[in-house]
Amino acid sequence: MTPLVAAESAGIDYGVTRVFEEIDLVIAPGTQTVITGRSGSGKSTLLLILAGLIEPSRGAVSWPGLSPDPRIRRGQIGMVFQAPSLMPELSALENVTLPLRLRGTSLATAWADSGAALATVGAADLADSRPAQLSGGQQQRVAVARVLAGRHLLVLADEPTGALDRENAQQVVSQLREAVTRAGGALLLATHDEEIAAGFTARLDLDSLAQATP
Ligand SMILES: Nc1ncnc2c1ncn2[C@@H]1O[C@H](COP(=O)(O)OP(=O)(O)OP(=O)(O)O)[C@@H](O)[C@H]1O
Ligand SMILES: [Mg+2]
Repeated sequence: MTPLVAAESAGIDYGVTRVFEEIDLVIAPGTQTVITGRSGSGKSTLLLILAGLIEPSRGAVSWPGLSPDPRIRRGQIGMVFQAPSLMPELSALENVTLPLRLRGTSLATAWADSGAALATVGAADLADSRPAQLSGGQQQRVAVARVLAGRHLLVLADEPTGALDRENAQQVVSQLREAVTRAGGALLLATHDEEIAAGFTARLDLDSLAQATP
């Protein structure tokens, strides 16, 4: 099957900090992979590379199973960022709606899908709140709802449960996994939580990759 994303001998340095010497990775549709590793091992960096948001310093990343048009491809990739990423001046519902509207989804459909996604993560009652009025965990659930509503082919979730209690964490992971399965896509999820990692059969442990020092 054509991979959604592939990294070929991809290495990354931030100045003198070498995060990856070389990574080869092929992500096929239908796969769900957990990324683990100590803090600073490069989980976020890897997800940002696979999202096309940063370029590798060496090697290449390609998206053979996604659109060659970067503007269309951007909509095919959904990302839950580790840092809070909601637009502060927009309500929770508007935050979820925005990427759909940017992709040309009609207002009625965008509102309906966004409302449904908020309800899925138990945040329907937060629709009119602004991010500053929400707890960290509530903001995180809204960010997950934004990805659920997007029906992306490639979902990259960077510690999407870091601010959640155990029950909410498991629910959010299940919801992401179900949404990706429904879309016939692939999920890469970075986590520190062993309980969540244990639910995945495919694991990429960055601690076991050779870390070279320049
Ligand atoms: N923008 C940046 N500029 C310089 N160095 C960076 C930058 N982003 C990350 N780094 C460094 O790259 C390394 C990998 O960081 P990254 O955020 O990918 O790790 P992580 O595995 O996601 O960590 P955590 O579990 O704490 O989220 C770290 O040493 C970090 O200090
Ligand atoms: Mg990180």
